[in-house]
Amino acid sequence: MNNNLKIYVAGHRGMVGSAIVRQLQAKGYKNIVTRTHAELDLSNQQAVADFFQKEKPDQVYLAAAKVGGIHANNTYPAEFIYQNLMMEANVIHQSFENGIKKLLFLGSSCIYPKMAPQPMAEDALLTGKLEPTNEPYAIAKIAGIKLCESYNRQYGRSHGVDYRSVMPTNLYGPGDNYHPENSHVIPALIRRFHEAKERKASEVVIWGTGTPMREFLYVDDMASASVFVMELDKTIYEQHTEPMQSHINVGFGSDVTIKELAEMIAETVGYPGKIIFDITKPDGTPRKLMNSSKLIAMGCSAKVPLHAGLGSAYKDFLHEIQNHSVRA
Ligand SMILES: NC(=O)c1ccc[n+]([C@@H]2O[C@H](COP(=O)([O-])OP(=O)(O)OC[C@H]3O[C@@H](n4cnc5c(N)ncnc54)[C@H](OP(=O)(O)O)[C@@H]3O)[C@@H](O)[C@H]2O)c1
Repeated sequence: MNNNLKIYVAGHRGMVGSAIVRQLQAKGYKNIVTRTHAELDLSNQQAVADFFQKEKPDQVYLAAAKVGGIHANNTYPAEFIYQNLMMEANVIHQSFENGIKKLLFLGSSCIYPKMAPQPMAEDALLTGKLEPTNEPYAIAKIAGIKLCESYNRQYGRSHGVDYRSVMPTNLYGPGDNYHPENSHVIPALIRRFHEAKERKASEVVIWGTGTPMREFLYVDDMASASVFVMELDKTIYEQHTEPMQSHINVGFGSDVTIKELAEMIAETVGYPGKIIFDITKPDGTPRKLMNSSKLIAMGCSAKVPLHAGLGSAYKDFLHEIQNHSVRA
């Protein structure tokens, strides 16, 4: 490991990007380059070209993306596909133009078909129709994987290009978005149980039957996996991937029902009331679990159990409330 490598983390203020910065710092990397969205709009081709020419990093983690829930994806599909395609194309192409050999692209489990066999393995990619609500976002993420692969295939031998991709499951932890209407299930439930506890409410109502199963990974485990894949010996990476199927799943390895999750969060928050399931409301996909056996076979697996991760996530939520960055 060379601690002096100049490493650009794109999206360093996001939940995943900030965890990657923490992980790199903990490993002793001292030369980390960052830019906020306001300082550098990654969808601006010229601005990205100027930045790479000026900074000439050695490695790039591409954790910047336009992300959002079902509502945002459905309302702004043009922005989701355009912004993400532009960011990926600009960062990946300028990395190549500036002689950068190592880049890690972050995708998402939404790249897999809606009806993919469970648990979803890497080879499920492009085998069926995507979930319509976030299809434009998923198409952009698939394009990101294919950009990395295409640059490897065309410039791997001649220029030493080695661009890799990781596809995380649902993430949670410090830096999450606790917005009341537009957040993922864990931050949304943390907030709702916390507010119910404060109000001394006797019950919390949750949509659906509580039976769907979901997988959750603590964001610091995701950051460790990202640095692990970036640093992995090329021979080992190539043994586990193919030139046109090179992405690696990053999951926790097991899932829980929404009911189990709700009970764990209620316990973490210290909410003593009842949890009611409104079975007149839709459930969504019955199960979404990643097959992470490739990553495990390469030597990396999740370390933070769900109950411990939820404890840290709740501390983060309380900290955010104290700092008034979350509307209480
Ligand atoms: N969170 C999850 O559960 C999850 C699960 C699977 C995969 N992922 C993947 O992980 C990656 C990061 O997700 P995240 O949860 O960390 O998202 P996040 O918290 O929203 O962070 C994304 C970051 O990208 C920046 N960004 C967006 N558009 C930009 C632009 N045009 N130019 C420069 N910066 C821009 C954002 O800055 P502003 O906020 O200032 O716009 C933000 O700091 C994404 O690729 C996502 O698909 C996340």
